[in-house]
Amino acid sequence: MDVICQGLTKIYPDGKEALLDLDLHIQEGLFGLLGPNGAGKTTLMEILTLLLEPTRGQVWIDGCDIRKHPDQIRSQVGYLPQFFGFFPELKAVEFLEYLGGLRGLRGRELKRHVNELLAQVRLGGVAHKRLKTFSGGMLRRVGIAQALLGHPKLIIVDEPTAGLDPEERVHFRNLLFELGQGRVVILSTHIVKDVEETCNQLALLHEGRLRFQGSPTAFIRAVQGKTWEFFGSHDEVEHFASRPNLVSICEKMNGICFRVVSPTPPRDNARPVMPNLEDAYVHFLETVRQAA
Ligand SMILES: Nc1ncnc2c1ncn2[C@@H]1O[C@H](COP(=O)(O)OP(=O)(O)OP(=O)(O)O)[C@@H](O)[C@H]1O
Ligand SMILES: [Mg+2]
Repeated sequence: MDVICQGLTKIYPDGKEALLDLDLHIQEGLFGLLGPNGAGKTTLMEILTLLLEPTRGQVWIDGCDIRKHPDQIRSQVGYLPQFFGFFPELKAVEFLEYLGGLRGLRGRELKRHVNELLAQVRLGGVAHKRLKTFSGGMLRRVGIAQALLGHPKLIIVDEPTAGLDPEERVHFRNLLFELGQGRVVILSTHIVKDVEETCNQLALLHEGRLRFQGSPTAFIRAVQGKTWEFFGSHDEVEHFASRPNLVSICEKMNGICFRVVSPTPPRDNARPVMPNLEDAYVHFLETVRQAA
């Protein structure tokens, strides 16, 4: 199972180039699609789920051209949209059975499948509670359960961790990781940590263009020897906060600690530190913004 995009371009009717000549190869496992607001993540996902027609370019899912075999693709793809609507008066089990019915599942098999899915997303105990009583995290898990209806080989989830508390985020990440075994799971996010912990491949989109594709390790390698920390004063916070190469500012025992990416030491007292994915994210975005 894999997903290949070639020269994928989406220009909206108002002329907005949301994706431009995207070449991507996504293999089995959890794939992180990173990018700031407006990068084109949802546009890409809607093309992969056949909700949106590309302007140009091609997509193959498991070797199958999506434009030539849309029905076959629809049955193989599960999708959790960024803004997921649900019926508040329905119980979790009713909601999933309803959506399962729309996917062509019927009878006892549907009931068993829905029960299995609710258990998998840790909602077995609240299967008969109405959705209006669910927390944001629980609703997100209902969203994942519906994306899994019919055993799809490709699962696409758009910003599923936004708004979740830290504990729910960890659970959710682990669930996605588990789902990535033997399937392709594409997760879009601008929360870099979600990708760091679980994805085996990632891509960075910015203004519709692909800025990086590869392993998290290769992404981080780009900032090896370019990540620094130094202590400064409160007076410097404003100055550094506006710099595009700033990763973080935090208060420590011995003063304010600034973390920046820079090819050369930004200060005499700066010390090199082990880079992480967030540093690489800042670096790549700063590089493309400088080039613009
Ligand atoms: N229907 C539309 N018509 C015109 N422009 C659109 C349309 N939908 C999206 N866009 C624009 O296309 C670009 C990409 O949007 P998209 O929603 O794919 O980004 P995103 O990476 O998902 O952003 P976010 O992180 O905010 O969800 C943005 O500039 C957006 O304003
Ligand atoms: Mg989006």
